[in-house]
Amino acid sequence: MNTLSIVGLQFGDEGKGKITDSLSHQFDYVVRYQGGHNAGHTVYANGQKYVLHVLPTGIVHPHTMNILGTGMVISLDALQKEIQPFNLSQIRISDRAHLLFPFHQQIDAQSEQTTSQKIGTTQKGIGPAYQTKTSRIGIRAGSLKDLSRFKVELTQLKNTLGVQFDVDAYLEQMKAFIASIVPYITDTSYEVYQAYQQGKRILFEGAQGVMLDLDHGTYPYVTSSHPTPSSIPVDVGLPPAFVRDALGIVKAYTTRVGEGPFPTEIFGEDADKIRKTGNEYGSTTGRPRRIGHLDVVMLQHAIRMTGVNQLAITLLDVLSIVDTIKICVAYEWNGQRTTLVPSHAQDLANVKPIYETLPGWKTPIQDCKSFSDLPKEAQDYLHRIQQHLGVPIRFISNGPKREQLIERGHHD
Ligand code: GDP
Ligand code: IMO
Ligand code: MG
Repeated sequence: MNTLSIVGLQFGDEGKGKITDSLSHQFDYVVRYQGGHNAGHTVYANGQKYVLHVLPTGIVHPHTMNILGTGMVISLDALQKEIQPFNLSQIRISDRAHLLFPFHQQIDAQSEQTTSQKIGTTQKGIGPAYQTKTSRIGIRAGSLKDLSRFKVELTQLKNTLGVQFDVDAYLEQMKAFIASIVPYITDTSYEVYQAYQQGKRILFEGAQGVMLDLDHGTYPYVTSSHPTPSSIPVDVGLPPAFVRDALGIVKAYTTRVGEGPFPTEIFGEDADKIRKTGNEYGSTTGRPRRIGHLDVVMLQHAIRMTGVNQLAITLLDVLSIVDTIKICVAYEWNGQRTTLVPSHAQDLANVKPIYETLPGWKTPIQDCKSFSDLPKEAQDYLHRIQQHLGVPIRFISNGPKREQLIERGHHD
């Protein structure tokens, strides 16, 4: 199978960017298929730090072709900023992907201030842009090929949404950039299909995580797309059979940014220590991430939903600072033990986690090069996770750098 999808199994920020980057040398194409510049994928490579929001992480490798797929919502402003150090000829933008405009961001920010149920969004306009799309009043990237028609469409959209927006000033400001990207706006479903038929290797890079999925996450505290491999065929425009192997990315503990239920959340000094060691601040908004223990109940939910057949455990090195490690193996809810995730956010907020506790290893592991180099307690933790999840752990990430990745051997 020449394709692999990378999927975050928690609340995003699992280290998808790092893993995508570490594996990109094995792939010809890296494809983003959902979300927009709400994502923040961090990579340390070539002695530099890159944070990718709207571009696929493969852009850091000069040989890859990077697709911005149909299911994305694309901000031209974000793309213009982010493409600067890279080569435009290394990207293709779906002519059917929807465009996200500055007024979408304003609507997002306003609704966060005025609604009673604050989501804690990234305020990048993601929800409003998908609303525009599903209301069938959106504008797609292909429209940029005819600027006079684009101007009519943008004026219509602005009027329909009733927002203040200077269309002429925007066009004047973006004209040169739009002209520069037009040659790369294309039918990406066709391009990826052809690549697949030619035996090219394709990596699908998910953004966000399954617990932020619009339907299967902690609704309404979710994003507005489907960060699951099941959405790749629709979001890229491919037959489902093209997507089989999926690598689930799991942070060795849990983090969440924004509002919403988080049963295993911890506070105070314990949380601060992990936040500091793991540099747990949002890559997109800089907000401190909420910290918690590993939650097997949610992971089992996410694994069932996605069918991932291999796992990467990331940020394992961060747990070197703790004395003991807790794993949530079930919830107590209404006096009953359950291993299912309640559908209502309020119910999920009220469950009581049931934990098992393992000893920590209290020694740095960032220089370990193989599974057998890891302390016994770290190996035991990984074996226990694998037992609970029933999916083989293939990779262990023990540091932010590209090369800090251990691939497990058959006997580990
Ligand atoms: P993504 O959104 O899933 O790509 O994850 P982010 O990049 O938003 O957040 C992950 C953070 O952890 C980034 O700061 C990475 O540089 C960092 N990171 C990734 N893997 C590791 C790891 O194994 N150890 C440590 N210490 N940091 C890591
Ligand atoms: P990556 O790809 C973590 C969260 C926001 C908020 C909710 C809805 O880096 O893992 P949105 O702006 O999408 O409408 O916000 O989703 N969120 C993320 N959290 N990582 C992300 O992306 C996220 N993208 C959105 O914090 O709770
Ligand atoms: Mg991130």
